[in-house]
Amino acid sequence: MMQHQNPVEDAFHIRKLEISDKEKGFIELLRQLTVCDSVSDEKFNERFEEIAKYGDDHRICVIEDVRSGKIVATGSVFIEKKFVRNCGKAGHIEDVVVDSSARGLQLGKRIVEYLADHAHSMGCYKVILDCTEENRPFYEKCGFKKKEIQMVKYFV
Ligand SMILES: CC(C)(COP(=O)(O)OP(=O)(O)OC[C@H]1O[C@@H](n2cnc3c(N)ncnc32)[C@H](O)[C@@H]1OP(=O)(O)O)[C@@H](O)C(=O)NCCC(=O)NCCS
Repeated sequence: MMQHQNPVEDAFHIRKLEISDKEKGFIELLRQLTVCDSVSDEKFNERFEEIAKYGDDHRICVIEDVRSGKIVATGSVFIEKKFVRNCGKAGHIEDVVVDSSARGLQLGKRIVEYLADHAHSMGCYKVILDCTEENRPFYEKCGFKKKEIQMVKYFV
């Protein structure tokens, strides 16, 4: 019997960030989210190795468009170890972005589900994130609900 194939899943491959992704448009993609100056190869490698030392406690995932070889979506999750909740753990999702040309294809949802699954598999009792009111319906579709408010203090 022919195996069922999902054309979107075949065309877009989700995986962990690799060092070679800098050449595949990873930094340019982050620029669609926020300020992200160009990063030298040396600085990129240094930061990549630093993050790698956290092992599964810091996961950056990407989606590669198999045909173009470009990174079209990304997001990260950091696993925080606490004393509360019986020395529980909480996952923090950050830096979710989908390339403007690839939005509306469920890629954002796949990224958020991947990150939430990772936090769950690491034993987190919750996973949290901050977003704009505009993105609230997107995260609700991903199974999140609004709770409290965000506070921030910038140092620069
Ligand atoms: C927000 C973002 C990540 C969504 O990614 P995406 O791949 O286009 O979203 P998906 O295709 O996975 O959408 C999943 C569902 O959410 C809905 N959705 C997505 N964005 C939405 C929005 N702004 N308002 C209402 N619904 C939205 C989709 O219609 C879809 O619904 P469906 O499952 O019923 O079809 C993307 O628009 C983006 O990168 N925006 C700019 C950066 C940004 O704001 N990042 C978030 C930082 S907190």
